[in-house]
Amino acid sequence: KEKIFSGMRPTGRMHVGHYFGALQNWVRLQDEYDCIFGVADWHALTTAFDNTQEIEKNLIEMVTDWLSVGLDPEKSTLMVQSLVPEHAELNLLFSMITPVGWLERNPVLKQQLQDMGLKEAVGFGHLGYPVLMAADILIYKASRVPVGEDQVPHIEITREIARRFNFLYQCSVFPEPEALLTSSPRILGIDGRKMSKSLNNYIALSDTREDIQKKVMAMFTDPEKIRRHDPGHPERCNVFTFHKAIANPQAEEIERDCRSGSLGCVACKRQLAELLADFIDRVTFLRTRYQGKEKLVREILVEGSRKAREIARKTMEEVREAMKISYGI
Ligand code: TYM
Repeated sequence: KEKIFSGMRPTGRMHVGHYFGALQNWVRLQDEYDCIFGVADWHALTTAFDNTQEIEKNLIEMVTDWLSVGLDPEKSTLMVQSLVPEHAELNLLFSMITPVGWLERNPVLKQQLQDMGLKEAVGFGHLGYPVLMAADILIYKASRVPVGEDQVPHIEITREIARRFNFLYQCSVFPEPEALLTSSPRILGIDGRKMSKSLNNYIALSDTREDIQKKVMAMFTDPEKIRRHDPGHPERCNVFTFHKAIANPQAEEIERDCRSGSLGCVACKRQLAELLADFIDRVTFLRTRYQGKEKLVREILVEGSRKAREIARKTMEEVREAMKISYGI
């Protein structure tokens, strides 16, 4: 069976960007593949090392949301990065074979530095972010990584590290994994910028019907559609992206009527708000099963991490063999 790995930083409650960009695929894949999904708590430290008191609460909230959208611990392995210290060991070995230039050229880092108004990475771990991510993925020999578009450059570096390892040590220990995108791999927030927690432009999976209504009505649309009957351009409209992401069976009619000018933005948004609210109602309903059951969530993660660790240990043995650093001991 093909192996799948993906992870998320513990940022608390999930938003619809996480869902339509990645989680939706996680849920779909778990029936057919061997899936491991991880809480990347060490990755959270690369920039927020001075703000660690929120991590635990965020981790529980995030995993509660994972379970609420249908990730099933009977089908998938749910684990925590720091409970499988082999990720750190492989990160160290990969750091030896990764040229610094690959990391300095990382477009994700460049964008982040620009946003933060910085000239260089916050620390050694921040620069090495993609190396740790490569370790997360490759320690399970995953061949597919379901993520949103923003993570694609990191998967590219993972492939390069895998290729370089196999070449340097004349082996085929690692596959070259591929990113697996949804049909809406880049979800924009209410203000038209990438939806994210830090920009506070998100619709959370835990928002109420009223929140959703308000947020959808405030969403940016095609700037050229000023009056109700102006013809619009669905391909440039974030609201239309959402109609497609949520698989609205009426998406084709909406596209046609927006273009012809017979559908106004208010009506179009009302329809979306209803659909999103119905979807989020279903998530909320499932969440009641896990809400406040922190002990159960913790048990799921301990058990998942134990299983993951068995696989990780085997891979590390192969890695040491390939590198000729097992010394027959
Ligand atoms: P993170 O925690 O920033 O985001 C988690 C996942 O959600 C996707 N995502 C989005 N997709 C579309 N539109 C959006 N607005 C949006 N916001 C978030 C992200 O693309 C991601 O798939 N580096 C990773 C975590 C990680 C990881 C890994 C991922 C650590 N190790 C190994 C895959 C494999 C991150 O920070 O994602």
